[in-house]
Amino acid sequence: MKKVVILISGRGSNMQSLLEAKLPCEFVAVISNKADAGGLKIAQQHGIPTAVVSHRDHADRAAFDMALAEVIDSYQADLVVLAGFMRILTTPFVERYRGKLINIHPSLLPSFAGINTHERALQEGVKIHGCTVHFVTPTLDSGPIIIQAAVPVLRDDTPAKLSARVLREEHRIFPQAVRWLCREQVWLNSDGRVATNRLEQPGAALISPGLS
Ligand code: GRF
Repeated sequence: MKKVVILISGRGSNMQSLLEAKLPCEFVAVISNKADAGGLKIAQQHGIPTAVVSHRDHADRAAFDMALAEVIDSYQADLVVLAGFMRILTTPFVERYRGKLINIHPSLLPSFAGINTHERALQEGVKIHGCTVHFVTPTLDSGPIIIQAAVPVLRDDTPAKLSARVLREEHRIFPQAVRWLCREQVWLNSDGRVATNRLEQPGAALISPGLS
């Protein structure tokens, strides 16, 4: 069974969706860079060991990433999952976990990399928005995509309303991505592309606003 470490910085709702999805893996630790992250309590309630590696205790990004990697490696992680982890990681860290490091991002990448994705989606007037799970590479929010979910943007949306609609889908696609990785049904190829042995399903188109 693969050993999975989850990194968080905040409330941890995506982490919780993973812990509660009955995935074929062992969650060996939840690590936060913030001691007051709400998600730490949720992890403890699930009986998962927690650790805090504060970025404030380290002189620079490189030192923080080294300390973080040491803790991750002490759990012999096969997979490292960024679930609302709000730190930019250095290239050596990202390369150390090549093909084992994934992130969830609240937009349909490559649109709206970075922060304030829902505000920016509303500002641009896009009619379809969503979320993405991807492998992490040194360039922020631009790694190979594993799975995406799309939601309509509605006339009366506020960033909060849109964010809630997207978050519901994050909680569906994130466990799915981790399940595939744990079962080795999806992996990162040596050419840097995502490979899978799963059959694709054509599914239905999301048209927004609707046609009628
Ligand atoms: C989520 O929207 C995630 O996509 C982004 O940060 C947010 C974290 O929320 N990376 P939570 O801590 O998982 O509730």
